[in-house]
Amino acid sequence: MNWSDITGWLSQDDANLLLKYSKLSTGNVIEFGSYLGRSSVLIASSIGDRYLICLDGFFSDNNKVELFLDNLNKCNIKNVITIKGDFFVTNRNLFAKVGMAFIDGGHMTSCLEVNMECCNKNLIIGGYIVFHDYINTQYPDVKQFVDELIKKGYYQYLEKTPNGSSIVIKRIR
Ligand SMILES: C[S@@+](CC[C@H](N)C(=O)[O-])C[C@H]1O[C@@H](n2cnc3c(N)ncnc32)[C@H](O)[C@@H]1O
Repeated sequence: MNWSDITGWLSQDDANLLLKYSKLSTGNVIEFGSYLGRSSVLIASSIGDRYLICLDGFFSDNNKVELFLDNLNKCNIKNVITIKGDFFVTNRNLFAKVGMAFIDGGHMTSCLEVNMECCNKNLIIGGYIVFHDYINTQYPDVKQFVDELIKKGYYQYLEKTPNGSSIVIKRIR
């Protein structure tokens, strides 16, 4: 079993971009929004002995933490630290030397803000953030949020998937 066998929304283009920056990054990786582990397995299997820290509330019956852990197990993934909790509660300074973040949790501005607060505390200068659903008519907040973030000058645009479903930015200060 591998990442593409797990139910989720990550396309092959999204996966290619995530793989590229997971491999280029140094240090540990944080994922906001893991669901059943589709992106988690992809990232964790591409970062060697570095750790992927997965944050998710695992709130509903169809994304119980047990299902997530079972998928990791079936894919023989060992380098994941799972934190079950609401982003608004688990937003602590826990993750020193984080080289990349993948943001794919709640897609509203309030959630993006709290995820970014955590990134600003923990992401190294030169570290990457990949946002899923950058262009998605269902989630207009994401594009607006990322575009405003880039304008503030702490993060630089690097690249996006051909249809804009994922975008990568780099922390520059
Ligand atoms: C789109 S899914 C993640 C998909 C996953 N990255 C994948 O590739 O399959 C979004 C996830 O964010 C989680 N989430 C949304 N809001 C949250 C919050 N406030 N705190 C914790 N988790 C949250 C949901 O539980 C859900 O599992």
